[in-house]
Amino acid sequence: MGAIEEKFRKRTPKSAELTERAAKVLPGGEARSAVYHPPYSVAIERGSGSRVWDIDGNDYLDLSNNYTCLVHGHAYPPIVEAAIRATGKGSTYAAKTLSQVELAESIVERVSSVDEVRFANSGAEAVQVALLLARGYNARSKILISTFSYHGHFIDAHRYLSEQVAGPDFVDTFIAPWGDAAAFEAILSEHGHEITAVLLEPWLASAGMVGAPREFFTRVQAAATAAGALLILDEATVYRLNTGGAQALLDFQPDLTVLGKLIGGGFPCGGVGGRRELMELANPITGNVQISGTFSGNPVTTAAGTVAVRELTAPKIDKMAAQVEKLDEAMRSSARNHGVPYSSRRIGSLMNVWFSDKLPAANHVREDGELATLFHLACMANGIFAVPRTLVNVSTATSDEDLTEIIQRLDSTFEDMAAEI
Ligand SMILES: Cc1ncc(COP(=O)(O)O)c(C=O)c1O
Repeated sequence: MGAIEEKFRKRTPKSAELTERAAKVLPGGEARSAVYHPPYSVAIERGSGSRVWDIDGNDYLDLSNNYTCLVHGHAYPPIVEAAIRATGKGSTYAAKTLSQVELAESIVERVSSVDEVRFANSGAEAVQVALLLARGYNARSKILISTFSYHGHFIDAHRYLSEQVAGPDFVDTFIAPWGDAAAFEAILSEHGHEITAVLLEPWLASAGMVGAPREFFTRVQAAATAAGALLILDEATVYRLNTGGAQALLDFQPDLTVLGKLIGGGFPCGGVGGRRELMELANPITGNVQISGTFSGNPVTTAAGTVAVRELTAPKIDKMAAQVEKLDEAMRSSARNHGVPYSSRRIGSLMNVWFSDKLPAANHVREDGELATLFHLACMANGIFAVPRTLVNVSTATSDEDLTEIIQRLDSTFEDMAAEI
């Protein structure tokens, strides 16, 4: 066992103990595949602002914010108040509520391609809702996605390239290389009559913030429209980049937009929005698409989400972006000082880091895998809460003092790494 693992294990005996108990009732001792890392993940007891505490009492500055969804950090008081107020009045009803309308209004006000919204309970579910709408529009069922895209655990392009393909897709899927408009056009020209929608991320988030030029999106949309298919833009992760969504940064108007993560204020949530004509397919009086969900639009989520969306202002977005830029510079310099290779891809407050001198192209095999695993564990052993795939983000709760402390802890992280490689 290396020194980093030893340090990690020494700090986290209660997490190790709980993992053994968890493994008896949860596969691999986890509720989510993405949070597992060797030798075991820590159990968190609480969070406040930019920090979380594990059950052994260690504090961590959080660079994960639960995969970006906690854009205002942990237990943000206005969100806590809104959620408590909503819960105290009853957590769910088979009826509309004011907070549903308020959250939908906030989204419609901000995202220019969105006239109406339907809520779901996760990003993955929102993608399915978008596909139901697309099927209602053109009565087709196949989809076209990009390599390296992730649209939730039902539609994950990584599985095509990995050893872990366990069977056929739930949705009949065509796949084309990210950023290659001609390849998308060719598939749409040949198979467009079978394709209900093209599903694209504005930036490949889970592949590490890989972008494509605006022209890629406009050409694919033109080809989709010509084929009678819809263009669905999946902003589940990147909506935090601009009050108008990543589509405002790209100056692009998709037919439908998938939202998730932050719009629930830290509670399970997803949403689909788009042009009135398309969204009205879900109108229970005049439409042909039934979209329900016992918990969809529940008052706790929508009350919390309304606060989260309204309080995500342009100055706060700019501040988070500046903080991540500073963090990137500090990490590059720390890595250089300790002789650890480093590269990064960053857009606004979202960044992915790699431990290679040259920035790798999108790839299903992580060539710096061993170093990434070591970095992640060293982060955990030095009080930085990171995620295994080395996505980095901050929240509006991250203060400049927190940032200084994060940079110090990351310097110790690189020092520990350097001693072990
Ligand atoms: C682009 C994108 N779509 C969909 C999802 C799925 O969201 P959820 O995990 O809430 O189901 C994610 C989650 O990371 C995502 O990044």
